[in-house]
Amino acid sequence: MKDNLLFDLSDRVIVVTGATGALAGSAADYLASQNARVVYLGRNREKIDSALARCREKMPDAQCLGLQADVLDRGSLERVRDQVLEKWGRIDGLLNGAGGNMPGATITPEKSFADLDFEAFKQVVDLNLHGTVLPSLVFVPVMMKSGGAVVNFSSVSAQQVLTRVVGYSSAKAAVENFTRWVAVDMARRTEGKVRVNAVMPGFFLGEQNRRLLTNEDGSLTERGELIIRNTPFGRFGQANELHGAIHYLLAEASRFVTGHVLTVDGGFTVFSGV
Ligand SMILES: NC(=O)c1ccc[n+]([C@@H]2O[C@H](COP(=O)([O-])OP(=O)(O)OC[C@H]3O[C@@H](n4cnc5c(N)ncnc54)[C@H](O)[C@@H]3O)[C@@H](O)[C@H]2O)c1
Repeated sequence: MKDNLLFDLSDRVIVVTGATGALAGSAADYLASQNARVVYLGRNREKIDSALARCREKMPDAQCLGLQADVLDRGSLERVRDQVLEKWGRIDGLLNGAGGNMPGATITPEKSFADLDFEAFKQVVDLNLHGTVLPSLVFVPVMMKSGGAVVNFSSVSAQQVLTRVVGYSSAKAAVENFTRWVAVDMARRTEGKVRVNAVMPGFFLGEQNRRLLTNEDGSLTERGELIIRNTPFGRFGQANELHGAIHYLLAEASRFVTGHVLTVDGGFTVFSGV
């Protein structure tokens, strides 16, 4: 591989789950801007169409395909796999972006662990862990033939305890362990042709956490302030600040890197708060 091709993603076929969301949607547009062939996978047809329209408005020549699937429904993922193979003949990358916290699975300040809603806990584990495992099960076997890279989404809550956030944190910790497990298995079985890594974003303002972190007038809530005080950069991340990490992990530039979790958090996890 020539050094000038280390970051070349031209014509790479990359499936992005959660592509109708904030972070994975932004990453999908970015990958399309790098001439990758991007599969925008989402649950809702209207949202997929508007994500595709946004992509094509910015880049009329972008190679993007919008396909509908639920990351918890193996049959729908297999249909997507077959459609992608029919159109482009291979799959080179998978960005497992579908996920997120759910209000019911958190512990509000006046409650304790004893009040945990176990059904909500199971749902958040389902989405974040099984919603990463199932797409991997469907798309990785395709990559085992010609090589490829998987990028999962962890969270700073996988490593450090964030008050309130119990189910989501357990799920993301499991995603990290799953990342390392599959990385080792794939490294040994494919002689390094398939690599599996993750990004660990800090706090990025999106629809999921906006109400928790900001008030209606845009000022910070008490929790938002606490997070900013503990983030050496003194601000939330912006979706495009994840692009570089994702690009690196999908590209040849990281060809000897697997099982790694790349932190993109403005210093949150290295700061003691003092
Ligand atoms: N925003 C942050 O600060 C932050 C921090 C750390 C990690 N993350 C992780 O980054 C990823 C993206 O988060 P985001 O902030 O962009 O959230 P988001 O809610 O904007 O995007 C998540 C997307 O996943 C989709 N989705 C949910 N359930 C699905 C299902 N069953 N099948 C298919 N799609 C489904 C949603 O429709 C949505 O489009 C998530 O894994 C999240 O946990 C986010």
